[in-house]
Amino acid sequence: MSRVRLPSPAPFIVFYFININTMAIKPREKWATKIGIILAVSGSAIGLGNFLRFPVQAVQNGGGAFMIPYFISFLFLGLPLMWVEWTIGRYGGGFGHGTAPGIFHSMAKKNRFIKYFGVIGIFGPIVIFIYYTYIESWLLGYAFFSLIGHYSGATTQESMLSFLKGYQGLESNQFFSNIGWAYLFFLITFFLNITVIYYGIRKGIEKLCNWTVPILLFCGVILAIRVLTLGTPEPARPSWNLVNGLGFLWNPDFSVLKDSRVWLAAAGQIFFSLSAGIGIVMTYSSYLTRKHDVVLSGLTSATTNEFAEIILGGSIIIPAAFMFFGPEKIISVANSGSFNLGFVTMPLIFQKIQFGTIFAFLWYILLFLAGITSSVSLAQPAMSFMEDEFNVTRKKAAKTLAIITFLLCQAPILFLGRGVLDELDFWGGTFCLVLFATIESIMAAWVFGIDKTWDEMHVGSELRLPVIYKFIIKYVTPVFLLTILGFWVFQQGVPAILMKNVPAENFWYILITRLALLGLFTMLCLFVRRAWRRKAVKQ
Ligand code: ALA
Repeated sequence: MSRVRLPSPAPFIVFYFININTMAIKPREKWATKIGIILAVSGSAIGLGNFLRFPVQAVQNGGGAFMIPYFISFLFLGLPLMWVEWTIGRYGGGFGHGTAPGIFHSMAKKNRFIKYFGVIGIFGPIVIFIYYTYIESWLLGYAFFSLIGHYSGATTQESMLSFLKGYQGLESNQFFSNIGWAYLFFLITFFLNITVIYYGIRKGIEKLCNWTVPILLFCGVILAIRVLTLGTPEPARPSWNLVNGLGFLWNPDFSVLKDSRVWLAAAGQIFFSLSAGIGIVMTYSSYLTRKHDVVLSGLTSATTNEFAEIILGGSIIIPAAFMFFGPEKIISVANSGSFNLGFVTMPLIFQKIQFGTIFAFLWYILLFLAGITSSVSLAQPAMSFMEDEFNVTRKKAAKTLAIITFLLCQAPILFLGRGVLDELDFWGGTFCLVLFATIESIMAAWVFGIDKTWDEMHVGSELRLPVIYKFIIKYVTPVFLLTILGFWVFQQGVPAILMKNVPAENFWYILITRLALLGLFTMLCLFVRRAWRRKAVKQ
């Protein structure tokens, strides 16, 4: 008796666009220039993490002493992961795969299950994209409000916080009566993101990054120079000066190095900031040819990110806040978190600086550009997956992604006050990052094999890595990652999974978010299965 096959449970809308049986296989795009991909990977890495997250992490974790675990993480975790992602991405691209399921499959063809581990490399970026675009849109909104002086009536921390909450729709006040403005800027930002990916790698992402990365670095340099030449802006308080401001950020407190949380924070910052270990870099490098020097390009993009983070990110927000708020208040200001510093403290500072409107505009445009070059990179793995594994045209893939992510984006927008955005950040921006980095490091060093990875890394490369890195990639990086994963599971993972810190009134919102994420993950697994079944039938 013949078995009746049930249709796939994936939503009909996706299949309408994917229409898998009628498409012809098309050759994959390639980056137009060497500098194009370096700027694109740097653009993906340079984001809000460099200018908002890094200085706050440094202040909260021992100041200058934080740089010890930070640099150790950079050398033993960040750089090796960058090189691994660049290498395996280019390798998988040679087989027509731009996302982790296909790339992992090309690395271990005999293992039927390995491709499912790669699903995290599409899922994680989508989850981050869902909330990242919304935060990015606040920056566009604030750039606009800076120019028209909309928040000039808010002159204290309390009133500026009230402005932010009104904008986010968390309260109705004299500045905003509803979420309308925030929604408008979200629509513009979302449309810009989809437009860029609609035009593809060369005409969309590469063109965007060729312009925006130099512009954002330029804005960062201007702002850093402005802060570093402020002198003593409050003459009555001579100790509120630049040297003490920099000292507040950089004076080392070596006693913190005994605390494992500081090491976790440093490693987490390296991951987040480099956009390493989430599946983005491998997608970008899958559009390279084998002539491309991945060792040098990986190093260049990682060091560009570090310049933006340490030199620019370390020179703007904390020294400026110290000079205007003084040594006592700065502690509560820094502890209030990255968002408060960016959206509450910085506008107040700009109000006190000559030509502050222009500097405020530069600040928010800098952050917006840093954000959009990161968010398009978060969308690209899902695009590549549809194009490579289902032969969907780029335009149809962009439309499909637009519909699905637009619907998903409504959750963090409408339920921001219910902790939905934080929940998405926890799974996408923390859990998937650590887990996927561990998986890809083991894949490269142990499944594909360190010798093959090492040889593949040096194909087309003029720069040869010191051989010690072979040892580091094989042993140090995976062990470092497994240790972090272990600590993380006990310190944060278990309490979070058990919803220990979820307020009772948010319980259902968080539970539904989790179930939706589980549904999305399952759907992606089903798509992977379907793609490979289809290939098997064709062969
Ligand atoms: N790497 C990006 C950032 O730092 C995600 O914001």
